[in-house]
Amino acid sequence: MPENQQKLIHTFGALAELGHEVSQKNNFQEMIRTSLHLLLGSLGIMRGGVARYSRFGHELNMLAVRGLGDDFPLSLSLCYEDERQFLINGLVPIEVSQAKVLPFFQIYDRSFESKKIELLVPLVIRDEIVGVVLLGEKANGESYSSYDRDIICAMVRHIGVGIAQRNLMAELERRAEENRRLYDDLRMTYKDTVKAFATAIDCKDKYTEGHSVRVGKYSEIIAAELGWSEEQIEGVAVAGYLHDVGKLTVDRNIINSSVRINAKESAELNKHPAIGYEILLPIHHPYTDVPLAAKYHHERLDGRGYPDELEDREIPYIAKIVCLADSFDAMTTDRPYKRRRPANEVVEDLQRNSGKQFAPELVTAFCSAMLKEITLETKQKKFRRLLGKEYLEAEGIVPMLKNALNGMNGTSSLTLVSLD
Ligand SMILES: [Fe+2]
Repeated sequence: MPENQQKLIHTFGALAELGHEVSQKNNFQEMIRTSLHLLLGSLGIMRGGVARYSRFGHELNMLAVRGLGDDFPLSLSLCYEDERQFLINGLVPIEVSQAKVLPFFQIYDRSFESKKIELLVPLVIRDEIVGVVLLGEKANGESYSSYDRDIICAMVRHIGVGIAQRNLMAELERRAEENRRLYDDLRMTYKDTVKAFATAIDCKDKYTEGHSVRVGKYSEIIAAELGWSEEQIEGVAVAGYLHDVGKLTVDRNIINSSVRINAKESAELNKHPAIGYEILLPIHHPYTDVPLAAKYHHERLDGRGYPDELEDREIPYIAKIVCLADSFDAMTTDRPYKRRRPANEVVEDLQRNSGKQFAPELVTAFCSAMLKEITLETKQKKFRRLLGKEYLEAEGIVPMLKNALNGMNGTSSLTLVSLD
């Protein structure tokens, strides 16, 4: 086979291998190293290096070197004039000995000379410098032919494309990270706004200070015990925080009445779920059920709730959670006309009303979460923080909770129809 033909086949083989290397995106450093070795090996070049260009630092950072020794600079600075000339030059090899007019070659003249660097090829991809390839002398002592230069051009293009792809990926990752941060900031703002609203709602009622926030936290406990995702738990907590937002429109005297309110006042107060729904509906919530939780948190499984006397299957699930959390807080905090009830009595009430007012599996989840905390099965102190340590240390609370859990099978309210 003629020598030229052999050379051609060899070159195409090297190019094919280089293309394959570049398409393997797993290990960028390894890809660059292998590509450099392929380039040097296919043309019998003694030494060389590949550097990546950083447009922020205006510098070239060596990614792979062969035969350049430890004293060769790992970072090379470019000035504006160098960058301009490299861009004009494109992917054509520059003869180092002929380019000394540029500041870059003057600064690094000694390093290039000591390592016998003969060619420098700017890696210009889509009108951007992404790096350079430095090439030393050929092993056979011959100077580079025009054929060699053509091969070099073709091969370094592959390396340049590999670096450009990597840059693009890094940029995409950076933007994705930025988007994630923006989203987190927005979420935080939303949560802070919700909490501010909850505080505003609670301010209106001097007897139930902190009620909305506690309902949010109890709702969160129930959802966590049900094994819901972080986002769903967050959604339920928001629904709890905002469930009484409709009370903002109810007369302060009715809310703060220290005596039992009359029928007319009661009717006025009972409008708050529907009003809350109207207030929340136009707001774009990341969690769609928030307005429904406000509207139906006073409904009961047995159909004796309000405003629409819905029955079990008709009540949105999130409203059932908030209903349980709401009732539990009402029973465990002091009201103007009645003191908080002891823990045993409250658990008994939950058990008795399971399937009537409350969804059984939610009562089970709630009792189970409380038991785990009291028996230190979990290190969380959510109930303790909300109710006080002493309250949870009531005598007989553990057997009571165990009994409640044994007595309830936790069947889904969607399958259990227990109407009086
Ligand atoms: Fe309410």
